[in-house]
Amino acid sequence: FLTHLPLAPKDPILGVTEAFQADSNPYKVNLGVGVYTDEQGKLPLLRSVALAEDQINTLKTARGYLPIEGLGRYVRQVQTLVFGENSPVLQEGRLVTVQSLGGTGGLKLGADFLRWFHPAAEVWISDPSWENHRALFEAAGFVVKSYPYYDPETHGVDFDKLIRTLEGAPRGTIVVLHACCHNPSGVDLNEAQWQAIRAVVVERGLIPFLDLAYQGFSQGTEKDAVSVRYFSELPIPVLVANSFSKSFSLYGERVGALTLICASREEAQRVQSQLKRVIRTNYSNPPTHGASIVATVLEDSNLHQLWEDELGAMRNRIRFMRQALVSCLKEAIPDQDFGFVAEQQGMFSFSGLNLAQVRRLRQDFSIYAVDSGRICIAALNEQNLERVVEALTQVIRE
Ligand code: LMR
Repeated sequence: FLTHLPLAPKDPILGVTEAFQADSNPYKVNLGVGVYTDEQGKLPLLRSVALAEDQINTLKTARGYLPIEGLGRYVRQVQTLVFGENSPVLQEGRLVTVQSLGGTGGLKLGADFLRWFHPAAEVWISDPSWENHRALFEAAGFVVKSYPYYDPETHGVDFDKLIRTLEGAPRGTIVVLHACCHNPSGVDLNEAQWQAIRAVVVERGLIPFLDLAYQGFSQGTEKDAVSVRYFSELPIPVLVANSFSKSFSLYGERVGALTLICASREEAQRVQSQLKRVIRTNYSNPPTHGASIVATVLEDSNLHQLWEDELGAMRNRIRFMRQALVSCLKEAIPDQDFGFVAEQQGMFSFSGLNLAQVRRLRQDFSIYAVDSGRICIAALNEQNLERVVEALTQVIRE
């Protein structure tokens, strides 16, 4: 049966990393995948993480199976960080959180759960969205459609169109929303816009599924969870997938979670029992190490503060590189305004580069971006900035 198996296309994001790794140019730059590297271009091991690992190592713990839903200490810390210490839904026992294999794993658990118990719904994602959203929900068996989001003319959100489209969504539609740091555009919704979406969600009986992969990369961990907190006030089912890949620089540990907000403690128990079936039939139970690191950091007030500081430093460096990129481009291409890049939030910028320009960047300059024109600002540093600006200038000018 493999004789006629077609070759699958490369992944739109991780495939860029594969091409980058195969490139022998010593001056190559990977602006593709959403990974933060420091001013030396190195993937950081956070100090808070290293200290937590030291603590864990001295304990020399044996590695039994975790419960199907994950490490209890970790689950509690996720709930506090995402929903807030005084969250009513937390105190009322209405949250079901399960540890997942990164944010992607949380999305997939949610998608499978929804497919089992809400199979007729459509899934609506933003236009544009993270490339894997469509693929992931389609792989779970859903029909995936999109709602308008980014307006290339204004470099902002086309909010009127967005709201009008959501108002026309069939009841029960699953709406995937980027809680903060919209991927790929870097353009976020403001509070009034979140409130308006919330009203439509309730009125139309939609099911919000929030993707919180970048908590802490826009304004800080508390402010970046505001959208999640708005939705948690509603008497409807809400799903939230969150990730520590970026915020803890723990990409390879695959640490994330899926949370469902339920109507009651009793409903939460039923939901958890079914989610455990989804997990058990998929990978049985999650791995220990990454979750122990995150739990150890978040439980200890000193390590927690150190982590917040380190996250703040990453956030500030990205902001600084945005400003630096804008001012260099202003000098190189004075007739075009790139000021919008400085306004965007999170790791990414939707640069406006077209496919031909992205290809040329890759072929002629060994600078790798996603085909959509998305570039990862978190991969810029003072050493590679000049090269990137020179290359951008050439491809844009042509
Ligand atoms: C990205 O968008 O680059 C990241 O979320 C990494 C990934 O898994 O695609």
